[in-house]
Amino acid sequence: MSDNKVILSDGAAGTKLELPVIRGTEGDPTLDIKNLHKETGYFTYDPGFAQTASCSSAITFIDGGKGILRYRGYPIEQLSESSSFLEVAYLLINGELPNADEMQEFDHDITYHTMVHEKLNTFMTGFHYDAHPMAMAAGAIGSMAAFYHDRLDPEDPKQRELAAKRMIAKMPTIAASCYRHHRGWPTAYPKNSLNYTERFLDMMFSVPAEPYEVNPVAAKALDLLFILHADHEQNASTSTVRLVGSTGANPYACIAAGIAALWGPAHGGANESVLNMLDEIGSVKNIPKYVDKAKDRDDPFRLMGFGHRVYRNYDPRASIIRKACHEVLAELNVTDPLLDLAMELEQVALKDEFFVERKLYPNVDFYSGIIYKALGIPTSMFTVMFAIARTVGWVAQWLEQSENPTRIGRPRQVYTGPVARDYIPLDKR
Ligand code: ACO
Repeated sequence: MSDNKVILSDGAAGTKLELPVIRGTEGDPTLDIKNLHKETGYFTYDPGFAQTASCSSAITFIDGGKGILRYRGYPIEQLSESSSFLEVAYLLINGELPNADEMQEFDHDITYHTMVHEKLNTFMTGFHYDAHPMAMAAGAIGSMAAFYHDRLDPEDPKQRELAAKRMIAKMPTIAASCYRHHRGWPTAYPKNSLNYTERFLDMMFSVPAEPYEVNPVAAKALDLLFILHADHEQNASTSTVRLVGSTGANPYACIAAGIAALWGPAHGGANESVLNMLDEIGSVKNIPKYVDKAKDRDDPFRLMGFGHRVYRNYDPRASIIRKACHEVLAELNVTDPLLDLAMELEQVALKDEFFVERKLYPNVDFYSGIIYKALGIPTSMFTVMFAIARTVGWVAQWLEQSENPTRIGRPRQVYTGPVARDYIPLDKR
């Protein structure tokens, strides 16, 4: 091995191959195996892509061992303390923090794209009243390609920018619609006088029968959760967006695919599963039983909101949310026994050999649901809340990829099926 290449040797064949080492601005060095098959006849086997960099990206950096997360170089702790979700959206998409004029223009553009076509509202009414809001959200975002079919060209920078703004702007409108449809409430239209998170809360909870005032504590808490969920480099849903994007599919199809991937309980669906799990555990006295279940290899039960592919340390977002959880509940005057239960569960797990050995810590979704619940957001909407925030990351990653298109994403396989055999006619089988 030298500084910029690694020698791979095949003892049986007596051959050697120099693999170039790619170094980013931070992070572990990466072997460039682009020509591996051409030069050696070998593919690599990496189920779950745990060892594979699928792209180069300048957007988000994670050091899982140290518990570091940065958007465009800015530590998540500083952004969550001092920034706003819309400013973070600008940063993720454009690479730099905006000046006052740029921020005002971006805010204006997002605000004036928040309304959806009235036919999209009609489309929403076609869902059954108890449809899962993630199914509705994926369908509604995907359907936007049908509303804007003349502005879908991923190769046109202007059309890309318009699609990006439309999705960031309309996602909260669609999310609130999903909830209102379930409640049987009439459509709420976006109010331009409010900011991004206030507008969403107003669309969620206002009813025609009485005035509704957005609680600033709720709006601030939501803004924080949105900042923390905005991007997380090449996670499952973002990789899905990029994979679909690599085919040249339209932007709405890419983001709809991202929403579908996020829904899984191993990914964004974990926030819903955490609350359901805490409800099921019910009391501190049941914690040992559930921790034992999580450790039992023959039991499919896992401690939801625990563990992460990249973090082998405390997820920095979880530390921020944990602190915010106490503050928000106190400010809203909410007492939730689930918070005490969650804290006790965390303590028990963090001291348990099984979790210590495997470096399993609470992730972003262990405490987020308790805040959502305190804001009056129902459990079934939790993953949609995640999707509102992550739309910004998906869009930023899709734009980055579209600016420098790569080859179509197309993994290989180790084939384990039958070798060649001849077809036998039905009457001979
Ligand atoms: N509860 C119990 N055991 C766990 C948990 C858990 N939450 N997470 C991991 N483990 C165990 C695994 O069973 C495995 O044990 P083994 O070595 O005896 O086989 C070991 O820890 C390593 O875990 P992997 O499953 O290999 O880790 P992977 O990186 O593949 O999975 C994942 C990461 C999916 C997040 C996993 O930790 C998990 O299922 N957690 C619960 C769901 C969750 O909270 N998901 C949200 C993640 S954050 C996000 O996407 C927004």
